[in-house]
Amino acid sequence: MRTRICDLLGIELPLVGFTPSPEVAAAISLAGGLGVLGAVRYANADQLEEALVYMDEHVQGRPYGVDVVMPMKEMEGITPGDLTAHVGEKHKQFVEDLLTRFGVPPLPDDVAKPEGINAWMHAMARAQVDVALRHPIKLLANALGSPPKDIIDEAHTHGVLVAALAGKAAHAVSHVNAGVDIIVAQGHEAGGHTGEVTTLVLVPEIVAAVGGKPVLAAGGIGTGSQVAAALALGADGAWMGSIWLTCAEFQIEPPTETGNSVVKEKLLAATSSDTVRSRVISGKPARMLRTPWTDAWEAKGSPGTLPMPLQGALVADAEARIRHHQTKALLGVPVGQIVGQMNDVRPVREIIARLVAEADAAAAKVAGAFAKSAS
Ligand SMILES: Cc1cc2nc3c(=O)[nH]c(=O)nc-3n(C[C@H](O)[C@H](O)[C@H](O)COP(=O)(O)O)c2cc1C
Repeated sequence: MRTRICDLLGIELPLVGFTPSPEVAAAISLAGGLGVLGAVRYANADQLEEALVYMDEHVQGRPYGVDVVMPMKEMEGITPGDLTAHVGEKHKQFVEDLLTRFGVPPLPDDVAKPEGINAWMHAMARAQVDVALRHPIKLLANALGSPPKDIIDEAHTHGVLVAALAGKAAHAVSHVNAGVDIIVAQGHEAGGHTGEVTTLVLVPEIVAAVGGKPVLAAGGIGTGSQVAAALALGADGAWMGSIWLTCAEFQIEPPTETGNSVVKEKLLAATSSDTVRSRVISGKPARMLRTPWTDAWEAKGSPGTLPMPLQGALVADAEARIRHHQTKALLGVPVGQIVGQMNDVRPVREIIARLVAEADAAAAKVAGAFAKSAS
C-alpha cells in the first residue's frame, strides 16, 4: 500500500493519525505512518513546546505533524484571558446545578484551575504555530478552516506542508484557493468537529472538486477494509482519529483496576450508536460519546449552548472537575461512530500492522471480484 502522499510526507504507509497524545503520535510515526499531535489541549505554548521536545526525542528522525484549531471566524471583542467574564449567570448556574445533581465536587484547592480553551482563538493558536515551526515538523494542520495566508506562507518558508479539514466540497475548494497543500475530507461519522455529509459521499465529491490536490479521507476509518475503501473513493490515504483512543499507548487518563481508564472502558463497550453530535464542548457541532452530560444540554430546561469560544470557557471548569474526580456517568470524549469497532487494546504498531493486512485482503477480494467479471 503506497500512494503519492507517502513521497510527499516522507512516510512508508498512507496512514495519518491525529491524536492529542505525544506518545501515540510518536508511535504512529515510528510504525510508518504520520503522527499528528493535536495542540488544542495545551493551555499554553510552553506545554506544547514540552510535548514537541518529547516528539523530537522519540520519533527517531521520522516525520510528524502538528494540528491547531483556528476557527474561520472569530467573535468580535473576545480576546484570550478570562472568557467566563463574558458568560451570563443563567448558563453558569445550569452547569453548577448539573454538577450538583451528579455529585461532582469542586476541584481541591491544590489543583490548578483550568485556563479554558484559549487555544480555540487565533492569538493562542498563532503562538502554538510559532512553537511548532521551531521544530522539524513535516505538516501543519488546521481543524476549522483555512489557516490565515501569512501562516500558510510561513509554514511553506519552513518547508512545512499545510493541511486543512473540510466537511463540504466548497470548504475544500476554498482551502485550495488559500494555498493549502493537503485536504482532509472529513465525513459526518468522524469524532470531533464534524459536518453533515458522510465520508462515502464527501470523499469523491472533494476529490473531484480540488483539481488533483492530495486528499486524505477521514471519518469512520478504523479497519483495513475502510482504508482500502478510502483509496477506492479516490483519496491518497486515510486520516484517523478515534481508533487511537483505545490503543495501549493512549494513557492521558488515570487507569482503573483493569489497567484501562474509565473512558477507555466506556469506549471499548460502546457501540456505533453511542455517539452524538453536540455543541457542548466548544459551541460548534462535534461528535462525542453520548453521556447524561450531553443529554442534559438537549433536555428541557437547558439554556442552550453558547458560541465558540464561550461554550468552551463555560464548561472548562466542569470538565476539569468531572475528569479530576473521574465521575463515571459524565465522563466522555470526542469519538466517531467507528467506536463500535474499537473493542480491544493493542499497541499502535499492531493496529497499523492489522490495518495493512486487512487493507491488502480487502483489495485482493475486490480485485478478485473484478477478475471474475472479466473472465
Ligand atoms: C478525541 C478527538 C479529538 C479531536 N480533536 C481534533 C482537533 O483538535 N483538531 C482536528 O483537526 N481534528 C480533531 N479531531 C478530528 C480528527 O482529526 C479526525 O478528523 C477524526 O477523528 C477522523 O474521524 P474518526 O474519528 O472516525 O477517525 C479529533 C478527533 C478525536 C477523536
